[in-house]
Amino acid sequence: MKYDRHQLYELSVQQPVVLLDFLEDVCDDVMDREPVVLREDFCGTAYLSSMWVRSDEGRKAVGVDFDAKVLRWAERHNRKPLAGDAGRLKLVEADVLRCGAKADIVAALNFSHFIFKTRDELLRYFRHARRCVKPGGVMLLDAYGGPGAMAACEDVRRFGDFDYVWEQKPIDPLTNRVVNYIHFRFPDGTRMDRAFRYDWRLWSVVELRELLVEAGFADVLVWFETEEGFDAELDTSDMEAWVTYLVAVT
Ligand SMILES: C[S@@+](CC[C@H](N)C(=O)[O-])C[C@H]1O[C@@H](n2cnc3c(N)ncnc32)[C@H](O)[C@@H]1O
Repeated sequence: MKYDRHQLYELSVQQPVVLLDFLEDVCDDVMDREPVVLREDFCGTAYLSSMWVRSDEGRKAVGVDFDAKVLRWAERHNRKPLAGDAGRLKLVEADVLRCGAKADIVAALNFSHFIFKTRDELLRYFRHARRCVKPGGVMLLDAYGGPGAMAACEDVRRFGDFDYVWEQKPIDPLTNRVVNYIHFRFPDGTRMDRAFRYDWRLWSVVELRELLVEAGFADVLVWFETEEGFDAELDTSDMEAWVTYLVAVT
């Protein structure tokens, strides 16, 4: 097979350049200094962190993940290619709750914080993240929702020479637990089923905002992702599903 599952994930799920443009605009607006250090919690392949380091010679990043295997992949595919700049990207093998690295921006993306299933667990993580954000810094996270987020579905998208398939199992109405899978399919009929599995609680934007404020953030700004970029006032009334980015300010 031409690609491994992490390459397929980076190609189909992640858009670090778009996200970094957005983050730069937001930081311009809400921070009174230039952000230098990005801490990427649940970093996986550390793609965003590596792009942060590439984006400016003064920037540093810390990627935190407890999976040694994905960090080895990150080291080989995203840190090593930075060559002389690799020293500005640190990969930390740890539970995010046990890593105290401080940063101007703490990011938790692709709904990674949805692994926390109770209010107490998520609040504990947000309090920890708040302590890790340097004065004047921000936390960036995302969420998805809309009626389509509640229903079982299979969403297929073509990316160049492969199909990305997002499969959602029905939500448990008593716990809001959702189980989702990413599969990949190829033109020759081969497939990579269940390349990734997610066992999450579907948190609402309201809950996330309340918990972030309870954790000590001063305010939480929200933007919806659109085809054109990011929109704070998108009319979602006719939308089946949407993705938001939350910026918690200190
Ligand atoms: C959904 S992936 C996110 C990858 C990447 N951040 C992105 O934006 O696409 C979740 C990652 O979080 C890691 N992870 C899950 N729980 C963790 C924890 N408590 N501490 C550190 N890493 C964790 C997993 O090993 C996995 O690599």
